[in-house]
Amino acid sequence: MEQKKFFIETFGCQMNHHDSEKVAGTLIRMGYAPTEDSSEADLLLLNTCNIREKANQKVFSRLGSIEKCYRTKVGAKVGLLGCMAQMEGEKIFERTPNVNLVVGSSSYSFLPQLIAQVEQGVPHVIDVTQDSDRLFETYTQSRENPYKAYVTIMEGCNRYCAFCVVPYTRGPERSRNGTHILSEIRQLASEGYQEILLLGQTVNSWRDPAGEIPSFAELLRRVADIEGIRRIRFTSPHPSDFHPEIIEVIETVPAVCNQVHLPVQSGSTPILQRMKRDYTREEYWRRVELIKAAKREIALSTDIIVGFPGESQEDFEETLSLMEQVQYDLIFSFKYSPRPGTEAYSFEDGISEEEKSRRLLVLQEFQRKIQLERNARFIGKEFEVLVEGKSRDAKDLMGRTTQNKIVNFLGPPELLGKWAQVRVTRFSAHSLQGELAS
Ligand code: 5AD
Repeated sequence: MEQKKFFIETFGCQMNHHDSEKVAGTLIRMGYAPTEDSSEADLLLLNTCNIREKANQKVFSRLGSIEKCYRTKVGAKVGLLGCMAQMEGEKIFERTPNVNLVVGSSSYSFLPQLIAQVEQGVPHVIDVTQDSDRLFETYTQSRENPYKAYVTIMEGCNRYCAFCVVPYTRGPERSRNGTHILSEIRQLASEGYQEILLLGQTVNSWRDPAGEIPSFAELLRRVADIEGIRRIRFTSPHPSDFHPEIIEVIETVPAVCNQVHLPVQSGSTPILQRMKRDYTREEYWRRVELIKAAKREIALSTDIIVGFPGESQEDFEETLSLMEQVQYDLIFSFKYSPRPGTEAYSFEDGISEEEKSRRLLVLQEFQRKIQLERNARFIGKEFEVLVEGKSRDAKDLMGRTTQNKIVNFLGPPELLGKWAQVRVTRFSAHSLQGELAS
């Protein structure tokens, strides 16, 4: 009998991408083979995102005309995984009956049994139970990137920010045992991985359930001690758990990258309070001051939402002034999107779509100028990069500095997966162009 094939399309965050790697590992263990061509797949999976309405719409439009969006084989089964599956549940079958399987992220360990039911011809199979104890522990992962590996250290979130679906889609906060994390990373190092990205919805809220490793900062130190690991990143930390000890580790342990993504969401304290972020603008800024005072320059990035209910022009300008003050290296900015089930869904004082778009544009232009100025400082400087792939236009190689800056440069393909020294020759707001040094 011919081997069954699967195809996964992933939407959304790095956590979702990593979940897809674990799901792929599980399917391979079940005897399936991966394919890049959806028309060959017996099982087509969409790992979905629900963070903003746009993410939802994208998936529904894909499902609505599935044969047009994906070339599908006759009799192929279709499954929906991830956060949208978790939130929409049975409703997905009503709206798109051609879907056979709906599985939320807490139930991936049961995929073998659930898929077996689909294979037996059960038309609609669903598991969206939120079991707080469950983590998706699997050692058979099929990693997308051959040079850097994602490692989950915690999942879920207990913070219930007013705008955010994550506590509902990902469930409550739960951490993995420190020894399990370290043994996974030792294994990765022995396979040749040199860069590790530690993942968690509020990654720095990690606490060792076994009580062996006293803090997140200490976990970073222990990962750095593993032979062969040259770079460690983590995403995304929550400002309230961003303790000075983490900065101390970045300062003193070269393998821990000097790059921090610290989502602020807004620069206005009243809006932060309405958002149920548990810090004020001043408290956030004090953390940034500590980061800026570090002996090793730390690159800073953030997430910002514009047009949260009640955000006045003045509040919006507070966000711009915080950006001016912080001088971020990179921002991810979003128009507020009301999410059913969250506290802010019922808030009044909604901002019109048009005004949200205007604020987003103003903010992005403001940041573009900051980034241009910041990137100009790099001209003539040399950096060590891990060469990860080709540039977007496939003409150049692409590597990242320890600060996570992308540098494109001309070089032989043998450099892929290797370390290279590059000198920056040109820059734009979003990337750096360089040449091989020596
Ligand atoms: N609307 C817009 N942006 C949102 N984010 C989370 N929820 C929403 C929402 N309802 C953004 C936040 C978060 C990032 C991952 O997505 O900025 O940090």
